[in-house]
Amino acid sequence: MSTYTITNPKKVTTKRVQEMKLAGEKIAMITAYDFTMAGLVDKAGIDMILVGDSASNVMQGNATTVPITIDDMIVYGRTVVRAVKRAMVLVDMPFGTYKGDPIEAQRNAVRIMQETGADGVKLEGGSEVHDSIEMILRAGIPVCGHLGLTPQSINQFGSYVTRATEEAEAQKLLSDAAALQEAGCFTIVLEKIPATLAKKVTERLTIPTIGIGGGKYCDGQVLVLHDMLGLNTDFKPKFLRVYNNLAEQIIDSVGNYIIDVKDGSFPNDDEQY
Ligand code: KIV
Repeated sequence: MSTYTITNPKKVTTKRVQEMKLAGEKIAMITAYDFTMAGLVDKAGIDMILVGDSASNVMQGNATTVPITIDDMIVYGRTVVRAVKRAMVLVDMPFGTYKGDPIEAQRNAVRIMQETGADGVKLEGGSEVHDSIEMILRAGIPVCGHLGLTPQSINQFGSYVTRATEEAEAQKLLSDAAALQEAGCFTIVLEKIPATLAKKVTERLTIPTIGIGGGKYCDGQVLVLHDMLGLNTDFKPKFLRVYNNLAEQIIDSVGNYIIDVKDGSFPNDDEQY
């Protein structure tokens, strides 16, 4: 069924992710928020699953990732973990749960790990989250960073345009990437920044970079599952490759079901007791 052959069936760990960077093997990450989809993407051979706070948009219909809560993320995280055998599962720390007091950040990360069974957490930001990352790591929790277009800061940014196109912001991103690595992050997501800048970050860091709109030089790529499956047809950024047209297929399938119910052809003699 799947066209991809899993070469290493072992559970993906932080060590394995690091080895992939060293070996030049690209890392494939995707989002998932529920049991059924997580089981399918794991079977397909994905390396890492992100229970992203993009659940706020695609699962809850919010305009931004700001409203989603830690309780919501724990429910999504737990259902994903239940389905997954091989992929590494990361859960996003939502808005307002890690940028203040590092002790509180650690408490929230511990809660996510204990109540979901995930393999690590992801959080957004640069040097300002350095102390929180150190504190979370002290609890034995792997941390993935996230730089560039960090959607939780949308109210500061004002729009979802490409970040770090100007020299000053590019320099800040480079120093933030170094700070995240120094704090102990095992990988960093780079969202919607120029490919040349992502290349520089990728070359300077010993930990892998995972791009979403970060271009071809990143060590890996991540996409939002609903976007790449063609479930969310209103979102068409340049960086997105759409692999299916599931929205059309679902509307078509349900439309056919409605016709069959209305005209009495479902259920037929073989579909009843
Ligand atoms: O929440 C999310 O889905 C993300 C990805 C876009 C990286 O953070």
